Amino acid sequence: MEKNYLILSIESSCDETSVAIVKNGREVLSCSTNTQIAIHRQFGGVVPEVASRNHIKNIDVVCQDALSQANVSLDDIDAIAVTYGAGLLGALLVGVNFAKGLAYATGKPLIPVSHIKGHIASNYITYKDLKPPFLCLLVSGGHSALLNVKTYTQFDLIGSTTDDAVGEAFDKVARICGLPYPGGVHVDELAKQGEPNIEFAHKNILANTYNFSFSGIKTAVVNYVHNLQQKSENINVPNICASFQSFVTNELSSKTIKAAKEFGFDKVVVAGGVSANSYLKKELTEKCAQNGIKLYMPDLKYCTDNGAMIASAAYYEMLAGNITTNFLNLTAKANVPLK
Ligand code: KG4
Ligand code: ZN
Repeated sequence: MEKNYLILSIESSCDETSVAIVKNGREVLSCSTNTQIAIHRQFGGVVPEVASRNHIKNIDVVCQDALSQANVSLDDIDAIAVTYGAGLLGALLVGVNFAKGLAYATGKPLIPVSHIKGHIASNYITYKDLKPPFLCLLVSGGHSALLNVKTYTQFDLIGSTTDDAVGEAFDKVARICGLPYPGGVHVDELAKQGEPNIEFAHKNILANTYNFSFSGIKTAVVNYVHNLQQKSENINVPNICASFQSFVTNELSSKTIKAAKEFGFDKVVVAGGVSANSYLKKELTEKCAQNGIKLYMPDLKYCTDNGAMIASAAYYEMLAGNITTNFLNLTAKANVPLK
């Protein structure tokens, strides 16, 4: 019988302090998360220094909670994993240093994990049989990208964000509409009550490429709202949300299908916080079915940042031999290249 491998993973790249314990990369024994959303909401977005301080305050408690929920002790853990980037530098440093301390004190190996690979791996937790190769649509607060995922640890970039990432555009549109942070989920909800009947004045400059640009549509929404405000006219927020969301999801889903057909993929995997968007799910479900493509989207609870996805990615890094031997030199990185 093969040995079971338990990984304790730490995620602190933004405003969630999350620790998980995952067996063999697929079975989540526990995932404990402290979210700072309520704290940052009063500022309208994440304040990096406040995020770091709250990670420091919470990380130990969250780690203890993950161990007790999984009913294991540190002795049962085979390796420690941590997100080293991309994200907010100060926030990442809290997780990285906590992980280094744990690895040093316990003598366990340390596995550094890219946040992007973590988001992709959220699908390995959701779908036990999913294996690369596949086409991945990565849609988060920091990225909109199409990736050729060749193995569990390697991917090539097909197209990516040229300006605002899709989650960032959702959050900015929400903000101009007076919706709370983080805005994506509120735009999604309000859009259900609206009609996508507004044509925002902007040029879709990357229509014929696999790259994404959402800053034009975002600015067009901002100008549209300002214009109405100056004339003291009624602002129909549900229609704005529905129209913006319809443009964005059409852009994402049509480029995904085009890439799947051109590069011959029969599996499309969606990753990142915006994969929680109900309209994106609907559009991709329809378009994939029409084109004979199998669609994978993570369980809602693993769409946004969580420790479990980091443990899953770490398991495959470990199988590929990517364990840091000189782990005390590990440092956090604000940016990690998409490769
Ligand atoms: O992947 P994630 O948790 O963090 C990063 O790695 O960036 O993504 C967060 C982003 C935020 O911009 C948030 O507004 C967006 O995901 N998001 C959504 C939805 N739920 C979260 N965007 C659209 N619709 C949603 N339902
Ligand atoms: Zn994320």
